[in-house]
Amino acid sequence: MKLSERLARLGTETAFEVLVRARALEAQGKSVIHLEIGEPDFDTPSHITDAAIEALKGGATHYGPSAGLPELRQAVAEDSTARRGVRSTPEMVVVTPGGKPVMFYVILALIDPGDEVLYPNPGFPIYESMIRYIGGVPVPVRLLEERGYALDVEQLIDKIGHRTRLIILNYPHNPTGGIIPEPGLRAIADAAVRHGVPVLADEIYSRILYEGRHVSIAAMPGMEPLAIVLDGFSKTYAMTGWRLGYGIMPAPLAQVVAKLQTNATSCTASFTQLAGVKALRGEQSAVEAMVAEFRQRRDVIVDGLRQTPGFKCPRPQGAFYVFPNITGTGFSAKPLADRLLDEAGVACLSGTAFGEWGEGHLRFSYANSLENIREALRRIKTCLAM
Ligand SMILES: Cc1ncc(COP(=O)(O)O)c(C=O)c1O
Repeated sequence: MKLSERLARLGTETAFEVLVRARALEAQGKSVIHLEIGEPDFDTPSHITDAAIEALKGGATHYGPSAGLPELRQAVAEDSTARRGVRSTPEMVVVTPGGKPVMFYVILALIDPGDEVLYPNPGFPIYESMIRYIGGVPVPVRLLEERGYALDVEQLIDKIGHRTRLIILNYPHNPTGGIIPEPGLRAIADAAVRHGVPVLADEIYSRILYEGRHVSIAAMPGMEPLAIVLDGFSKTYAMTGWRLGYGIMPAPLAQVVAKLQTNATSCTASFTQLAGVKALRGEQSAVEAMVAEFRQRRDVIVDGLRQTPGFKCPRPQGAFYVFPNITGTGFSAKPLADRLLDEAGVACLSGTAFGEWGEGHLRFSYANSLENIREALRRIKTCLAM
């Protein structure tokens, strides 16, 4: 079968490949601690699961509108208005199966071949994959490790040119857990408004924040016609397998994105959307408890990695990842990640899985128990001492 030429430009998410390798080792009887995959290890809170069961029994088993059920669009708009301090309306919301399709649809909707897109590198690998796939030109922007992996805002602004059609931001950031401090967001917003460039703000980790409150670029002056926010339920409510996310964007773009969804999946499953309403409107204490637990794990893993010879590890402000610099070990990132999996039974990702500027780093997801994190740290130290 002859594959399309553009397929050669499609990238992937290495986390899923490493997970397969780790599982194969486990099948051979080896013990593996999973610090590679980016999903909360908690169960979805039971009141949300109960809402889905009730919805199923109540007959929410049919097609729904492509943009999402009105109840959920309304709940998302209210939640976003309250949390981001910017007026969102249901017409601006498109509900999608996970947050990821928002990237796909928005890039499809806005980018023609040759158009430039600015995005963080290292960063979530699907940004670059989608930009290339569509025929756009990826323009990477560095992160400043010495400033807790904040995006290099000056560099980003310098790179905005007459072909720039989209800026992608992600805060808190995967793979580093870094944020973009408010003055930086303001400067980016000013530049985006000056040049009339839309901004896709991936805020999927906006509720997993350890210091301060979440500030969205969507709330900055002049951003109303340019801001596209990606968020969802996967990380906040431990609902990765449910596939439920959303985008919030100017209403005319929301209509286009809904049309793309009509072409791709028709709509998001109805009963999961009703569970989403419950998640947003119901009790939030499970989210707070999860974040408190993540904070404790963050401190254990950061302190442990800082005591590991050759590692330097900033303390991240959000998400559930650490991104230590491992250049002091003398290894490159991929060989070290492979060695830790094969010899120590610790699965993690090479920084290069997030772009070429991720070299010299590893990503550990601390969405695992404190006991397992402590054991992983012990194994890493032993392996490096060999
Ligand atoms: C930065 C970032 N954006 C989006 C997503 C996608 O989330 P979802 O599982 O809701 O599609 C992820 C998942 O890992 C992520 O890390």
